Amino acid sequence: MTDIDQDAVKMFAFKVWTYKMGEQVSLLVHLGDRLGLYKAMAANGPMSSEQVASTTNLHERFVREWLLGQAAAGLIDRHDDGLFEVTPVQAAVLANEDDSIAFAAGAFRGGIEPDVVDRIEDSFRTGLGITYEQQGPRAAAGMARMTGPWSKLALTSTILPALDGVVDKLESGATVVDIGCGGGVMLTTLAQAFPNCRCVGYDPSAAALDVAKARAAQMGLTNVDFVEASGEDLEPGSAYDLAITFDCMHDMAFPDRTASAIRAAIADDGTWLLKDIRSTGDFAADMRNPLLAMFYGFSITSCLQSAMSEPGGAGLGTLGLHADAAQELTRKAGFSRFAIHDLDDAANLYYEVRV
Ligand SMILES: C[S@@+](CC[C@H](N)C(=O)[O-])C[C@H]1O[C@@H](n2cnc3c(N)ncnc32)[C@H](O)[C@@H]1O
Repeated sequence: MTDIDQDAVKMFAFKVWTYKMGEQVSLLVHLGDRLGLYKAMAANGPMSSEQVASTTNLHERFVREWLLGQAAAGLIDRHDDGLFEVTPVQAAVLANEDDSIAFAAGAFRGGIEPDVVDRIEDSFRTGLGITYEQQGPRAAAGMARMTGPWSKLALTSTILPALDGVVDKLESGATVVDIGCGGGVMLTTLAQAFPNCRCVGYDPSAAALDVAKARAAQMGLTNVDFVEASGEDLEPGSAYDLAITFDCMHDMAFPDRTASAIRAAIADDGTWLLKDIRSTGDFAADMRNPLLAMFYGFSITSCLQSAMSEPGGAGLGTLGLHADAAQELTRKAGFSRFAIHDLDDAANLYYEVRV
């Protein structure tokens, strides 16, 4: 003990406690989202704790503590006169779920259920992870809110126009399959934007499909169906014009089987749009991402869990399907064309894959 530089210990302890602070602030963000506090304050200018409490119908004492905590975290402003404000910039990230591509508060779930943490602990001993379905309905709904804003708002403006000839086909009426569709935000957005298309979403998680079906029903869509099945179970010869896999190939126990199933189910002139996490396969290079540790967290709690949920699973995990690996996967499945699209999405790259 005496040999250790005590200043270095203090500095390192501070670093560790900042992660504990992150845990606490994460919970406060979740509560702000869940209780409608950010939304109530957005675009309302400076407000007293009493005004926030009465607008949200909540108890002022708890609201005041939350406001002070949020100001301490630098997530909302506190003015010298003691009033609190959610600025337009803060609202874009914390409040404006429907129209802001930067909305992030929905990604804060208030922690993971204790029984799921127990199962994650077990996975380190058994080598077998849990599926998305086993994470439960809250996780499924949370996933849709985390990935949803970008998928929804960038799909028709940025992502689809980047693909060769795809928008024209969608406009005139195409068949589309979204594999690993999760809560269906992307597929329902596409089905609404292109009413001539016939769309089907595959996912092995019933909890995720419940979210997707409710969304399609609420939007009044009649051109979307959902199938509770893995990507491996795609109907061969379906001749889909567009196959989509968003943030899910690295979650699959056997992504090679799904890639082959896509090849068998896609039209010869069809397009496979594969979105996966930006990574390089090289840890030192990936360290340029200031949020890298968060991605490893996602992996151990979700992606790697799913990718190791069957014996012999490939276990790619969140960062495992970098561009070279994606190209190799698609080539082995019988695709020869592979184009990389960097669409200003900080977390993902988009691959246009064709026969
Ligand atoms: C991270 S979520 C992404 C969901 C959705 N694509 C999105 O962008 O919000 C991954 C999804 O992949 C699904 N999944 C896991 N293994 C799969 C498989 N073998 N075939 C199809 N989907 C799978 C999970 O159930 C989960 O809904």
